[in-house]
Amino acid sequence: MSNPILEINDLKASFKTYEGTANVLDGIDLTIHEGEAMALVGETGCGKSLTTELILDLVPAARTSGEMKFKDEVVYSPSVDERSTLRGENISIIMQDPMSSLNPVFTIGEQMTDILLFGGGEKSPIDYLKHKLTRNGAERKKARERAREVLNEVQISSPERVLSSYPSELSGGMRQRILIGMALLADPDLLIADEPGTALDVTTEKKILEILKDIVDNRDTSVIYITHDLGVAHEVSDRVTVMYAGQVVERSPTDVIFDTPMHPYTRTLLESVPSLSTGIGEGSEGSIPSYVDVEAECRFADRCEFSEAACRGVHPGERTLDQGQSVACHLYKQDTGGRSADDTDEPYIGPPPWRTEQKRAD
Ligand SMILES: Nc1ncnc2c1ncn2[C@@H]1O[C@H](COP(=O)(O)OP(=O)(O)O)[C@@H](O)[C@H]1O
Ligand code: SF4
Ligand SMILES: [Mg+2]
Repeated sequence: MSNPILEINDLKASFKTYEGTANVLDGIDLTIHEGEAMALVGETGCGKSLTTELILDLVPAARTSGEMKFKDEVVYSPSVDERSTLRGENISIIMQDPMSSLNPVFTIGEQMTDILLFGGGEKSPIDYLKHKLTRNGAERKKARERAREVLNEVQISSPERVLSSYPSELSGGMRQRILIGMALLADPDLLIADEPGTALDVTTEKKILEILKDIVDNRDTSVIYITHDLGVAHEVSDRVTVMYAGQVVERSPTDVIFDTPMHPYTRTLLESVPSLSTGIGEGSEGSIPSYVDVEAECRFADRCEFSEAACRGVHPGERTLDQGQSVACHLYKQDTGGRSADDTDEPYIGPPPWRTEQKRAD
């Protein structure tokens, strides 16, 4: 496998709320390799956006701990905090909502050239005006040419018209393409796409995903696709990481997870994708538990049909299975001769329990 580009170790994040401290992220480990497309999957509220926004230091209210490495260099640890230097340089993010990510009072051309000329960093209004007035025409012309190039790359057929337009004059699909184009301006090594196209109709979303996938393939950029939809992950990723309530519950090569979902939560996610579900059950009702006073147990326990005494009070450690999968679930201790996941390195290579049940029913 290629070199890791981004490594996150034991990332925790909490917030002060009126109800108490919300312990949202609980020890997230993630590794993205060069040229890899990873899908971060889970239902709304499970912490997908938060995880990636922390990479770019976009959540000042969060109290965090953990370590991040970018290209083998520690960029964040409790004693080193330089995450903001990564923003726009090596990592670009395509935010979830195309309308609120674009400034309604500037044309697309102005917004794109400003990113190139001023680096997209934060500036006071006075500094901004100073910069704007001192930049000469040639620089601005060059920046506009570069903006036109990336608009071509996101398959916008009339870039000049789009550059002269205000966001409100463009369709949702067009705005989403522009955001992708803006993210490409900095030539990122890692692209984070947060639910790209989710706010759009299904056909437009499909087109946006195709465009993104083409770009990622052509540039060999590493990408994290955030999605609540395993169907989307199936289309765009090499590897899937499933999150539930601020924890990673399963990771797997994409082609493997659809055949053998190991975590009960992954299984319920699969059931909600009709074209991928092959009659493996009914899904699960309920919602993510409160992050305030969350117990040290499997956070899925209230919704899990396989829940047992061991699932309450003890958090299931993540263990490696065969086929490149790993799972955090007490179920996979059962066939290890009574030993816990923590005191054996031997992987459990049996099928998930629902596979055995199905066989019996057949
Ligand atoms: N700035 C914030 N202040 C307080 N809580 C937050 C903040 N950002 C995120 N959260 C909490 O983190 C949880 C996960 O949010 P998010 O990462 O947006 O989920 P997802 O992207 O998976 O839908 C939310 O339910 C919310 O409770
Ligand atoms: S640890 Fe227990 S409650 Fe959690 S998913 Fe596994 S079986 Fe279900
Ligand atoms: Mg989100």
